Amino acid sequence: MKKILIATEKPFAKEAIDLIKAVFTNAGYAVTFLEKYIQKSQLLEAVVDCDAIIIRSDIADKEVIAAAKNLKIIVRAGAGFNNIDLDSCTANNVVAMNTPGQNSNAVAELALGMMVYSARGLFDGSTGSELKNKTLGIHAYGNVGRLVASIAKGFGMKVYAYDPFLSHEDIEKDGVIAIDSAEELYKNCQYVSLHIPANASTNKSIGFNLLNSMPKNATLVNTARMEVINENELLKIMEQRTDFKYVSDVAPICAKIFAEKYQGRFYFTPKKMGAQTAEANINAGVAAAEQIVDFLENGNIKYKVN
Ligand code: 3PG
Repeated sequence: MKKILIATEKPFAKEAIDLIKAVFTNAGYAVTFLEKYIQKSQLLEAVVDCDAIIIRSDIADKEVIAAAKNLKIIVRAGAGFNNIDLDSCTANNVVAMNTPGQNSNAVAELALGMMVYSARGLFDGSTGSELKNKTLGIHAYGNVGRLVASIAKGFGMKVYAYDPFLSHEDIEKDGVIAIDSAEELYKNCQYVSLHIPANASTNKSIGFNLLNSMPKNATLVNTARMEVINENELLKIMEQRTDFKYVSDVAPICAKIFAEKYQGRFYFTPKKMGAQTAEANINAGVAAAEQIVDFLENGNIKYKVN
């Protein structure tokens, strides 16, 4: 009997778990759960005899992949897969997949929610501002970026997007203004919402020059990854521009400095909240389960990322 491990330090909602279990039970597989684990050793122990693993932001590094001696497939129930050591997967004949698009709406709604929260002075009772007629730059126009654009247009924002992998036509058909470079995007937009993946070419790529070119009363919204921010340069902006705000889904490494020096100009979620809705858990969790069954039974590698 095939053994499946669901290793989620941040567990799925109960409704999602029931549906995930049903997919595997119908396929005749055995499922075990490792939830809210604290030590990496617990994960290393749990992976030993499993054929497939579902994770979220859990770290599947070289050691984890090496410890999973029977592993054939690991699926990141979500979009970003920078938490999986893809080279180790390939070296060990393990297929790695993600579930693109499945939790995008939850992330997009959070991005807009954080914009409102920032515009209204973190709900501290002071007079804030509205999003209507403000400029919003979407940095990377993928599954989440597109949904952010659509919701932001409902707010009456003027929406711009930059994506080096898309044509102007792909972007402009949604009534969004296509921009040719990141520099131009930041220069034009009071709000910038980040949707770039974390990888070798994007890590620390958001720094002083881009942020400093943003118009007065700028807000950077990061529901992507903290790794893409150059934190030293972000701190320099926070110091030099008292009109600059940063809201992020998970705290940066330098969060303590923000707390000491920039009260009222930042908000960080205590835990990554972007995909924390029942709907997103169900969509991404069930897609991950179905992709595993389809791979193990039929060899389907549609969402392979390694
Ligand atoms: C993703 O990449 O899909 C999101 O960042 C969600 O991450 P999570 O599953 O850890 O909440």
